[in-house]
Amino acid sequence: DISTSISGTTLPNVFFNASGVWCQHEDELQAMVESHSGALITKSATLAPRQGNPSPRYLPLPLGSISSMGLPNEGYEYYLRYACSFNYSRTKPLFISLSGLSLGDSVKMVEAFVAADLPCMLEINFSCPNVPGKPQLGYDFEAMDAALATLAPLIKKPFGIKLPPFFDIAHFDLVAAVCQKYSNLAFLTCVNSIGNGLAIDFETETALIKPKDGYGGLSGAMILNTALANVNAFYRRLPDKQIIGVGGVASGKEAFLHILAGASAVQIGTQLMEEGPAVFERLNKELAEIMAAKGYNTIEDFRGRLKTL
Ligand code: DHB
Repeated sequence: DISTSISGTTLPNVFFNASGVWCQHEDELQAMVESHSGALITKSATLAPRQGNPSPRYLPLPLGSISSMGLPNEGYEYYLRYACSFNYSRTKPLFISLSGLSLGDSVKMVEAFVAADLPCMLEINFSCPNVPGKPQLGYDFEAMDAALATLAPLIKKPFGIKLPPFFDIAHFDLVAAVCQKYSNLAFLTCVNSIGNGLAIDFETETALIKPKDGYGGLSGAMILNTALANVNAFYRRLPDKQIIGVGGVASGKEAFLHILAGASAVQIGTQLMEEGPAVFERLNKELAEIMAAKGYNTIEDFRGRLKTL
Protein backbone atom coordinates (compact mmCIF):
# COMPACT_ATOMS: atom_id res chain seq x y z
CA ASP A 1 0.00 0.00 0.00
CA ILE A 2 1.72 3.16 -1.20
CA SER A 3 -1.32 5.40 -0.78
CA THR A 4 -1.10 8.67 1.09
CA SER A 5 -3.21 11.69 1.86
CA ILE A 6 -2.63 15.42 1.56
CA SER A 7 -4.76 17.58 3.84
CA GLY A 8 -7.41 14.89 4.04
CA THR A 9 -7.53 14.01 0.33
CA THR A 10 -6.45 10.46 -0.50
CA LEU A 11 -3.92 9.81 -3.27
CA PRO A 12 -3.81 6.16 -4.46
CA ASN A 13 -0.02 6.47 -4.51
CA VAL A 14 2.51 9.10 -3.41
CA PHE A 15 3.69 10.12 -6.90
CA PHE A 16 2.70 12.97 -9.18
CA ASN A 17 4.26 15.42 -11.60
CA ALA A 18 6.27 18.43 -10.46
CA SER A 19 4.49 21.53 -11.71
CA GLY A 20 5.92 22.57 -15.06
CA VAL A 21 6.39 19.08 -16.39
CA TRP A 22 3.74 17.42 -18.57
CA CYS A 23 1.02 19.82 -17.50
CA GLN A 24 0.80 22.94 -19.68
CA HIS A 25 -1.84 21.75 -22.17
CA GLU A 26 -4.97 19.70 -21.84
CA ASP A 27 -3.49 16.76 -23.78
CA GLU A 28 -0.58 16.54 -21.34
CA LEU A 29 -2.92 16.79 -18.36
CA GLN A 30 -5.02 14.01 -19.89
CA ALA A 31 -1.89 11.84 -20.19
CA MET A 32 -1.27 12.50 -16.48
CA VAL A 33 -4.85 11.45 -15.71
CA GLU A 34 -4.35 8.23 -17.70
CA SER A 35 -0.95 7.52 -16.10
CA HIS A 36 -0.35 5.64 -12.84
CA SER A 37 0.32 8.89 -10.96
CA GLY A 38 -1.43 9.42 -7.64
CA ALA A 39 -2.47 12.97 -8.52
CA LEU A 40 -1.69 15.70 -11.05
CA ILE A 41 -0.78 19.37 -10.93
CA THR A 42 -1.09 22.03 -13.61
CA LYS A 43 1.64 24.30 -14.99
CA SER A 44 2.10 27.44 -12.87
CA ALA A 45 -0.46 29.92 -14.14
CA THR A 46 -0.13 33.66 -14.55
CA LEU A 47 -2.96 36.13 -15.13
CA ALA A 48 -2.29 36.32 -18.88
CA PRO A 49 -1.06 33.56 -21.19
CA ARG A 50 2.72 33.59 -21.75
CA GLN A 51 5.00 32.19 -24.46
CA GLY A 52 7.92 31.97 -22.04
CA ASN A 53 11.61 32.36 -22.83
CA PRO A 54 13.34 31.68 -26.18
CA SER A 55 14.60 28.13 -26.93
CA PRO A 56 16.67 26.15 -26.25
CA ARG A 57 15.35 26.53 -22.70
CA TYR A 58 15.58 22.99 -21.28
CA LEU A 59 18.47 20.56 -21.53
CA PRO A 60 19.23 17.29 -19.80
CA LEU A 61 22.69 17.22 -18.19
CA PRO A 62 24.82 14.26 -17.06
CA LEU A 63 23.58 14.70 -13.47
CA GLY A 64 20.12 16.23 -14.01
CA SER A 65 18.87 19.12 -16.10
CA ILE A 66 18.94 22.88 -16.55
CA SER A 67 15.91 24.89 -17.58
CA SER A 68 14.70 28.42 -17.97
CA MET A 69 11.22 28.10 -19.40
CA GLY A 70 10.05 31.55 -18.26
CA LEU A 71 6.55 30.52 -17.20
CA PRO A 72 5.03 29.56 -20.55
CA ASN A 73 1.39 28.86 -19.72
CA GLU A 74 -2.13 29.26 -21.06
CA GLY A 75 -3.23 31.85 -18.50
CA TYR A 76 -5.18 31.06 -15.32
CA GLU A 77 -8.60 31.05 -16.99
CA TYR A 78 -7.55 28.01 -19.04
CA TYR A 79 -6.61 26.06 -15.88
CA LEU A 80 -9.75 27.30 -14.11
CA ARG A 81 -11.85 25.94 -16.98
CA TYR A 82 -9.90 22.67 -16.78
CA ALA A 83 -10.51 22.49 -13.03
CA CYS A 84 -14.22 23.20 -13.52
CA SER A 85 -14.61 20.36 -16.03
CA PHE A 86 -12.42 17.88 -14.08
CA ASN A 87 -14.15 14.70 -12.98
CA TYR A 88 -13.10 14.71 -9.32
CA SER A 89 -14.99 11.62 -8.23
CA ARG A 90 -13.80 9.36 -11.05
CA THR A 91 -10.15 10.33 -11.39
CA LYS A 92 -7.51 11.46 -8.89
CA PRO A 93 -6.76 14.60 -6.90
CA LEU A 94 -6.07 17.76 -8.92
CA PHE A 95 -3.63 20.42 -7.73
CA ILE A 96 -3.48 23.85 -9.35
CA SER A 97 -0.24 25.84 -9.37
CA LEU A 98 -0.54 29.63 -9.36
CA SER A 99 2.42 31.94 -9.87
CA GLY A 100 1.35 35.57 -9.95
CA LEU A 101 3.92 38.04 -11.28
CA SER A 102 2.69 40.36 -8.51
CA LEU A 103 0.67 39.92 -5.32
CA GLY A 104 -2.23 41.68 -7.05
CA ASP A 105 -2.16 39.08 -9.83
CA SER A 106 -2.11 36.25 -7.28
CA VAL A 107 -5.08 37.79 -5.46
CA LYS A 108 -7.11 37.93 -8.71
CA MET A 109 -6.32 34.31 -9.58
CA VAL A 110 -7.01 33.06 -6.05
CA GLU A 111 -10.31 34.94 -5.92
CA ALA A 112 -11.42 33.31 -9.17
CA PHE A 113 -10.61 29.82 -7.89
CA VAL A 114 -12.23 30.49 -4.51
CA ALA A 115 -15.38 31.76 -6.25
CA ALA A 116 -15.54 28.55 -8.31
CA ASP A 117 -15.47 26.52 -5.05
CA LEU A 118 -13.83 23.42 -6.54
CA PRO A 119 -12.32 20.41 -4.74
CA CYS A 120 -8.88 21.03 -6.23
CA MET A 121 -5.96 22.13 -4.04
CA LEU A 122 -3.92 25.25 -4.67
CA GLU A 123 -0.12 25.21 -4.66
CA ILE A 124 1.03 28.84 -4.64
CA ASN A 125 4.42 29.12 -6.29
CA PHE A 126 6.86 31.34 -4.39
CA SER A 127 9.90 30.19 -6.28
CA CYS A 128 10.06 30.66 -10.05
CA PRO A 129 13.67 31.63 -10.77
CA ASN A 130 13.35 32.16 -14.51
CA VAL A 131 11.41 35.34 -15.25
CA PRO A 132 13.91 38.07 -16.13
CA GLY A 133 13.66 40.95 -13.65
CA LYS A 134 11.48 39.05 -11.15
CA PRO A 135 13.33 37.84 -8.03
CA GLN A 136 11.95 34.77 -6.27
CA LEU A 137 9.49 35.67 -3.50
CA GLY A 138 10.76 32.71 -1.50
CA TYR A 139 14.08 34.44 -0.91
CA ASP A 140 12.40 37.60 0.49
CA PHE A 141 10.98 36.39 3.80
CA GLU A 142 9.09 39.61 4.58
CA ALA A 143 7.47 39.65 1.14
CA MET A 144 6.55 35.98 1.54
CA ASP A 145 5.00 36.72 4.94
CA ALA A 146 3.04 39.63 3.43
CA ALA A 147 1.84 37.45 0.52
CA LEU A 148 0.69 34.72 2.92
CA ALA A 149 -1.02 37.29 5.16
CA THR A 150 -3.09 38.35 2.13
CA LEU A 151 -3.64 34.99 0.43
CA ALA A 152 -4.21 32.57 3.33
CA PRO A 153 -7.42 34.28 4.58
CA LEU A 154 -8.68 34.59 0.98
CA ILE A 155 -8.16 30.89 0.27
CA LYS A 156 -9.70 29.88 3.65
CA LYS A 157 -9.38 26.15 2.79
CA PRO A 158 -6.12 24.21 3.21
CA PHE A 159 -3.52 25.11 0.57
CA GLY A 160 0.18 24.73 -0.12
CA ILE A 161 3.22 26.70 -1.22
CA LYS A 162 6.12 25.74 -3.47
CA LEU A 163 9.40 26.82 -1.92
CA PRO A 164 12.85 27.30 -3.35
CA PRO A 165 15.71 25.38 -1.75
CA PHE A 166 17.37 26.99 1.28
CA PHE A 167 20.98 26.48 2.26
CA ASP A 168 21.32 27.92 5.74
CA ILE A 169 19.91 26.69 9.05
CA ALA A 170 18.94 30.27 9.96
CA HIS A 171 16.82 30.42 6.78
CA PHE A 172 15.07 27.13 7.62
CA ASP A 173 14.20 28.64 11.02
CA LEU A 174 12.96 31.95 9.58
CA VAL A 175 10.86 30.41 6.80
CA ALA A 176 9.35 27.84 9.18
CA ALA A 177 8.41 30.65 11.59
CA VAL A 178 6.62 32.49 8.77
CA CYS A 179 4.77 29.32 7.70
CA GLN A 180 3.75 28.56 11.28
CA LYS A 181 1.68 31.76 11.39
CA TYR A 182 -0.83 30.49 8.80
CA SER A 183 -3.00 27.62 10.02
CA ASN A 184 -4.60 26.81 6.65
CA LEU A 185 -1.16 26.58 5.04
CA ALA A 186 -1.37 22.79 4.98
CA PHE A 187 1.56 21.69 2.85
CA LEU A 188 4.98 22.87 1.69
CA THR A 189 6.33 21.55 -1.60
CA CYS A 190 10.12 21.34 -1.26
CA VAL A 191 11.99 22.09 -3.47
CA ASN A 192 11.86 24.08 -6.67
CA SER A 193 14.95 23.96 -8.86
CA ILE A 194 18.25 25.39 -7.57
CA GLY A 195 18.05 28.72 -9.30
CA ASN A 196 20.46 30.24 -11.76
CA GLY A 197 23.02 27.58 -12.45
CA LEU A 198 25.11 27.81 -15.61
CA ALA A 199 25.84 24.92 -17.99
CA ILE A 200 28.56 25.40 -20.60
CA ASP A 201 29.54 23.30 -23.61
CA PHE A 202 33.28 22.57 -23.30
CA GLU A 203 33.95 22.23 -27.04
CA THR A 204 32.11 25.28 -28.31
CA GLU A 205 32.67 27.35 -25.13
CA THR A 206 29.01 28.34 -25.31
CA ALA A 207 26.18 28.45 -22.80
CA LEU A 208 23.82 25.47 -23.26
CA ILE A 209 20.52 27.31 -22.99
CA LYS A 210 19.52 30.61 -24.56
CA PRO A 211 17.62 32.64 -21.93
CA LYS A 212 19.38 34.86 -19.40
CA ASP A 213 22.91 34.38 -20.82
CA GLY A 214 22.61 30.66 -20.08
CA TYR A 215 21.46 30.84 -16.45
CA GLY A 216 18.74 28.37 -15.49
CA GLY A 217 17.26 26.26 -12.71
CA LEU A 218 19.12 23.07 -11.84
CA SER A 219 17.11 19.90 -11.26
CA GLY A 220 17.47 16.14 -11.10
CA ALA A 221 20.11 13.96 -9.44
CA MET A 222 22.43 16.89 -8.65
CA ILE A 223 19.83 18.43 -6.30
CA LEU A 224 18.68 15.29 -4.44
CA ASN A 225 20.63 16.00 -1.26
CA THR A 226 19.55 19.65 -1.14
CA ALA A 227 15.95 18.52 -1.62
CA LEU A 228 16.19 15.89 1.15
CA ALA A 229 17.67 18.50 3.53
CA ASN A 230 14.84 20.93 2.83
CA VAL A 231 12.12 18.26 3.17
CA ASN A 232 13.55 17.13 6.48
CA ALA A 233 14.24 20.66 7.79
CA PHE A 234 10.60 21.69 7.33
CA TYR A 235 9.25 18.31 8.43
CA ARG A 236 11.09 18.72 11.75
CA ARG A 237 10.07 22.35 12.25
CA LEU A 238 6.41 22.14 11.18
CA PRO A 239 4.84 19.02 12.73
CA ASP A 240 1.31 20.26 11.96
CA LYS A 241 1.97 20.67 8.24
CA GLN A 242 2.74 18.21 5.45
CA ILE A 243 5.72 18.19 3.10
CA ILE A 244 5.61 17.23 -0.56
CA GLY A 245 9.11 16.18 -1.59
CA VAL A 246 10.53 17.00 -5.00
CA GLY A 247 14.08 16.93 -6.31
CA GLY A 248 16.23 14.17 -7.74
CA VAL A 249 13.73 11.31 -7.70
CA ALA A 250 14.52 8.94 -10.57
CA SER A 251 13.66 5.62 -8.93
CA GLY A 252 11.87 4.08 -5.97
CA LYS A 253 15.01 4.49 -3.90
CA GLU A 254 15.08 8.30 -3.98
CA ALA A 255 11.33 8.36 -3.33
CA PHE A 256 11.90 6.16 -0.27
CA LEU A 257 14.56 8.62 0.97
CA HIS A 258 12.23 11.61 0.53
CA ILE A 259 9.54 9.82 2.56
CA LEU A 260 12.07 8.78 5.20
CA ALA A 261 13.02 12.49 5.43
CA GLY A 262 9.34 13.29 6.06
CA ALA A 263 7.61 13.70 2.70
CA SER A 264 3.94 12.70 2.46
CA ALA A 265 3.98 12.73 -1.35
CA VAL A 266 6.67 12.90 -4.01
CA GLN A 267 6.72 14.93 -7.24
CA ILE A 268 8.73 14.03 -10.34
CA GLY A 269 10.29 16.66 -12.61
CA THR A 270 13.39 15.87 -14.65
CA GLN A 271 12.76 12.11 -14.73
CA LEU A 272 9.22 12.72 -16.03
CA MET A 273 10.65 15.01 -18.74
CA GLU A 274 13.10 12.30 -19.76
CA GLU A 275 10.90 9.20 -19.44
CA GLY A 276 7.34 10.46 -19.91
CA PRO A 277 4.27 9.45 -17.89
CA ALA A 278 5.21 5.74 -18.02
CA VAL A 279 7.62 6.66 -15.20
CA PHE A 280 4.77 6.44 -12.68
CA GLU A 281 4.07 2.74 -13.17
CA ARG A 282 7.78 1.99 -12.70
CA LEU A 283 8.07 4.17 -9.58
CA ASN A 284 5.00 2.56 -8.00
CA LYS A 285 6.50 -0.88 -8.56
CA GLU A 286 9.96 0.08 -7.30
CA LEU A 287 8.70 1.77 -4.13
CA ALA A 288 6.39 -1.18 -3.36
CA GLU A 289 9.32 -3.60 -3.83
CA ILE A 290 11.59 -1.59 -1.52
CA MET A 291 8.88 -1.47 1.15
CA ALA A 292 8.25 -5.21 0.88
CA ALA A 293 11.99 -5.95 1.18
CA LYS A 294 12.25 -3.73 4.25
CA GLY A 295 9.05 -5.06 5.82
CA TYR A 296 7.06 -1.82 5.67
CA ASN A 297 3.36 -2.14 4.88
CA THR A 298 2.43 1.52 4.56
CA ILE A 299 4.11 4.87 3.98
CA GLU A 300 3.39 5.83 7.59
CA ASP A 301 5.51 2.89 8.83
CA PHE A 302 8.66 4.80 7.86
CA ARG A 303 7.72 8.37 6.95
CA GLY A 304 9.96 10.81 8.82
CA ARG A 305 11.76 7.97 10.64
CA LEU A 306 15.18 9.11 9.50
CA LYS A 307 17.85 7.96 11.96
CA THR A 308 20.69 10.30 12.87
CA LEU A 309 24.07 9.49 14.39
C1 DHB B 1 9.32 28.12 -14.24
C2 DHB B 1 10.29 27.55 -13.45
C3 DHB B 1 10.05 27.36 -12.12
O1 DHB B 1 10.97 26.79 -11.32
C4 DHB B 1 8.84 27.73 -11.59
O2 DHB B 1 8.62 27.55 -10.29
C5 DHB B 1 7.87 28.28 -12.37
C6 DHB B 1 8.12 28.48 -13.71
C7 DHB B 1 9.58 28.35 -15.66
O3 DHB B 1 10.73 28.62 -16.02
O4 DHB B 1 8.62 28.31 -16.45
